[in-house]
Amino acid sequence: MKEVVQPLLQWYAKNKRSLPWRETKNPYHIWISEIMLQQTRVEAVREYYFRFLQRLPSVEDLAMVSDDELMKLWQGLGYYNRARNLKKAANVIVEEHGGSFPEKYEELLQLPGIGEYTAGAIASIAFGEPVPAVDGNVYRIYTRLKADKSDIMQGKTKKKIREEIAGIVPQRQSGEFNQAWMDLGAEICIPNGMPLCDKCPLSSYCMARRQQNMLDFPVKTKKKPRRIEEKTVFLLEYQGKYLIQQRPDKGLLAGLWEFPSQEGKLSLKEVSSFVKKWGGDAGQIELLGSGKHIFSHVEWHMLGYRIHLEQIPEELKENLVLSSVEELDKKYSIPSAYSVYLQKIFSDRLHQ
Ligand code: ADE
Repeated sequence: MKEVVQPLLQWYAKNKRSLPWRETKNPYHIWISEIMLQQTRVEAVREYYFRFLQRLPSVEDLAMVSDDELMKLWQGLGYYNRARNLKKAANVIVEEHGGSFPEKYEELLQLPGIGEYTAGAIASIAFGEPVPAVDGNVYRIYTRLKADKSDIMQGKTKKKIREEIAGIVPQRQSGEFNQAWMDLGAEICIPNGMPLCDKCPLSSYCMARRQQNMLDFPVKTKKKPRRIEEKTVFLLEYQGKYLIQQRPDKGLLAGLWEFPSQEGKLSLKEVSSFVKKWGGDAGQIELLGSGKHIFSHVEWHMLGYRIHLEQIPEELKENLVLSSVEELDKKYSIPSAYSVYLQKIFSDRLHQ
């Protein structure tokens, strides 16, 4: 494997993508970018990265931010526990490291939300420690290089690849080395579609290329199919404001705000009977149509109704908060799963 190091570094020096978090050695900035980049595309991250650092320029600022504001800064990126862990880790850095960023891979690994990949990325990119940062790109490129049919969903395969890559990380330029795999994976040895082997600096070392079976790698056992949850979403409108509720502080989308909902897709007739029970007028129901949102393990298949209320029913007063349209936008973090319905509210406001 050692023979790939130099061609990879030379290719990276010429072809690396120009990205904002590559303009800095500030470990705080690099950390934020690495966490945002997990599960989120580079292009989508840029804007969030700038806004986040503008509002929270230091670890201390992050440690002190309110949960509501943090969720607002993260809204749309998904996987909100990433943001909660950022704040927890910032508190540990302030309280246990006197606010100075831990520099060693092993110390970084102790922080909430930082696993082997992220600790490796920060330690190598910000501090030059010769440790690997092995992600899906590396698994894909490695298995193609070696025409290795091991299942990359298995822990033992990941461990084997990690150890082999750890053995070839250069003493200098470890950050460049780790990021070179990322760029090669994003631009040449791509995950969906034919790799661009003609442009690849490693093609002469690549077994899959020799066998012309690049797309057979990586071997990946299928995940369980996602569970489908059907739900009916109620946009309960009262005097131009909407009733929303906070999700439980554990589990999916913990602590975020949402429109109330019921399990299953309810017909107009079924919704009418709810509305009558609340003392409302069934003539005031508007069908908003369906919406779908895909999480890692679940899919929500939604049907939305907007219901105009003349009064707020007693039974809804307890858990629900009345939010103006402005507050839905600026104050409460409502996950993107609901964006079809939120957009409906915002666009109606513009057309009024
Ligand atoms: N994905 C995760 N970390 C990255 C980085 N530093 N550069 C480009 N893509 C990335």
